[in-house]
Amino acid sequence: MAERKKVTVPSLVEMKRRREKIAALTAYDATMAALLDEAGLDLILVGDSAAMVVAGYETTLPMTMEAMLYHTAAVRRGVRRALLVADMPFLSYQVTVEEAVRNAGRFFQEAGAEAVKIEGGEEMAETIRRLTAVGMPVLGHLGLTPQSIRKFGGYVLQGTTEQEAERLLDDAHALEQAGVFAIVLEKVCLEVAKRITEAVSVPTIGIGAGPHCDGQILVTYDMLGLFEKFRPKFVRRYAELGRIIRQACAGYVDDVKRGQFPSMGESYTGDQE
Ligand code: KIV
Repeated sequence: MAERKKVTVPSLVEMKRRREKIAALTAYDATMAALLDEAGLDLILVGDSAAMVVAGYETTLPMTMEAMLYHTAAVRRGVRRALLVADMPFLSYQVTVEEAVRNAGRFFQEAGAEAVKIEGGEEMAETIRRLTAVGMPVLGHLGLTPQSIRKFGGYVLQGTTEQEAERLLDDAHALEQAGVFAIVLEKVCLEVAKRITEAVSVPTIGIGAGPHCDGQILVTYDMLGLFEKFRPKFVRRYAELGRIIRQACAGYVDDVKRGQFPSMGESYTGDQE
């Protein structure tokens, strides 16, 4: 089978012009990243959702630069075709533009990222301008931005009033003008997501923002049924891996307890297949 072309920042932007939908998921390790890449994902995000689905925290706020660099470098080793984007963790880009440039640079230099994602609207424009000016592409993120969860007070739908909708549109324009190559819209009313998608030239990638976005992203642990603490309404489960893993491991426990694994015929010398 012919190898599909590597996805780059310009080719991702071009997909909007061609009206080709963008398929994106998150990954945190090399093994999962290789599976997603082989499945044909266009964009793989090393999300700071790792704080919740991998590290077991309640929010994304405890995520650190060192942990995100570790996850990004691991995912880099699994990805060949998809565009690899690293999420900048809380407080790594909000304090000063200089800190944002230095921290973003580490994702490119030390971990092999091809772009970074930062949350926020107009207030982030100067930082985005600087990052893109020095050659670091930025994916924006509007709507329910999880690093501001304490301000929102919960995972609430965004853009429900005309005033909120106007603010989101203004923010989307500010991000576009500052130079983002795409914008994630999280938990935004589908009509507002449609208006933004039609208003900006860069692709929108929705998560809980309806079908009108130029692409979709989900947290892989949610769509594979691995993360079971809670299930956002917008998530479609494509597999129930939590159940499959529990069943498989219970089978293993049972075999070991009954002395059925390993069996006499089975290789146990440590030789690789
Ligand atoms: O951290 C993450 O996984 C994200 C996606 C939900 C967009 O930001």
